Amino acid sequence: AFEVKIASTGACYQIPAGKTVVAILEEQGISIPISCEQGVCGTCITRILDGVPDHRDMYFMDNEKAQNDQFTPCCSRAKSTSLTLDL
Ligand code: FES
Repeated sequence: AFEVKIASTGACYQIPAGKTVVAILEEQGISIPISCEQGVCGTCITRILDGVPDHRDMYFMDNEKAQNDQFTPCCSRAKSTSLTLDL
């Protein structure tokens, strides 16, 4: 599990194994647009202000992944204990 922090509100949510960031935030009334939910289309791309994502998508190029400033919350997770999202 890891924690997602919403930059605009400071709210933090735990993302357990087996649940996506998109799904947990949706439960909290924070909707991120999605389409493929498989890391292919890029619809869900969200900016990261702090923390290190664990990229599970096939959308970004390797050099983009290495910048760690955006990720696909429909499928990607975190390497750090917390991610701060620009939401
Ligand atoms: Fe397609 Fe996330 S919804 S990459």
